[in-house]
Amino acid sequence: MSKRAAAALVAGATVAVLTACGSGGAGSAGKGSGHKLVVGFSQVGAESGWRTANTKSIQEAAKKAGIELKFSDAQQKQENQIKAIRSFIQQKVDVIAFSPVVESGWDTVLKEAKDAHIPVVLTDRSVDSKDESLYVSFLGSDFVEEGRKAGDWLVKEYAAAAGPVNIVQLEGTTGSAPANDRKSGFADVVKADPKFKVVASQTGDFTRAKGKEVMQAFLKSQPKIDVLYAHNDDMALGAIQAVEEAGKKPGSDIKIVSVDGVRDAFTAMSQGKINYVVECNPLLGDQLMDLAKKIKAGEQVPRRIKTEEGTFTPEQATAALPGRQY
Ligand code: AHR
Repeated sequence: MSKRAAAALVAGATVAVLTACGSGGAGSAGKGSGHKLVVGFSQVGAESGWRTANTKSIQEAAKKAGIELKFSDAQQKQENQIKAIRSFIQQKVDVIAFSPVVESGWDTVLKEAKDAHIPVVLTDRSVDSKDESLYVSFLGSDFVEEGRKAGDWLVKEYAAAAGPVNIVQLEGTTGSAPANDRKSGFADVVKADPKFKVVASQTGDFTRAKGKEVMQAFLKSQPKIDVLYAHNDDMALGAIQAVEEAGKKPGSDIKIVSVDGVRDAFTAMSQGKINYVVECNPLLGDQLMDLAKKIKAGEQVPRRIKTEEGTFTPEQATAALPGRQY
């Protein structure tokens, strides 16, 4: 067995790396000029409708761009992402891209990629590394802004109300950039008026099941809930089930604002069950593949590329529903 094959075998033993397209395996990565561009991508998991759409976008874009994608699903575990990145380094891929499950704890592995001269692109979520030389570019949303938009809606919605307005918050994965930033952006806006009170806040890990479970607990522990702020649609959709099972009407007894803009949330909005959605765009595939090509060609790329995003009222969501891709 060749040295390279042995290294790839060791690195791949604990990480399921799937080749999404193209026939070149680990052995073809990093060779000469004429080879197909190889991108190693470590995905967070499959925790939400947003994530499924993001994975599809990346896999389809790689195929379209003629890029060999080595795709690894971390199942929401940082240790799996670190293993996947090490595996990509062993395989000498051209570019490593990943969506970090949490913000902290990446410096060592990113340093390993840098030492191996493999450029890294962060996509969707960022890291809190002080050393900016550890990655080339970050493509994704402004999560603080998303939190602010949710807060702005709330302030307008309750402009005429005397208060108190009791809010429960379903947070995303603990330590993740979207959970940290959506929480702080929202808090920044609502703290301006003391009538807004976040009476309970807990992680629902961005999943429907956890969103439902935590909302059930909120409904038991909180005598009066006016508003649910969910850091993503899936948790809001799980919470809607809990609210309905408790005999209350989501959207009127308890108003709901969430983030993402997936089809199921638009359907719930068209039924009056969600009041406002802040968009987070998962369709990052084309931009990511474009970045990878430019980086490999030695072109200068922006350090930060922000995704353009809007907001949706129930009327806007109902109108957008027939054409919604995800
Ligand atoms: O990082 C983006 C967030 O992760 C999305 O809002 C959420 O649905 C996903 O799980």
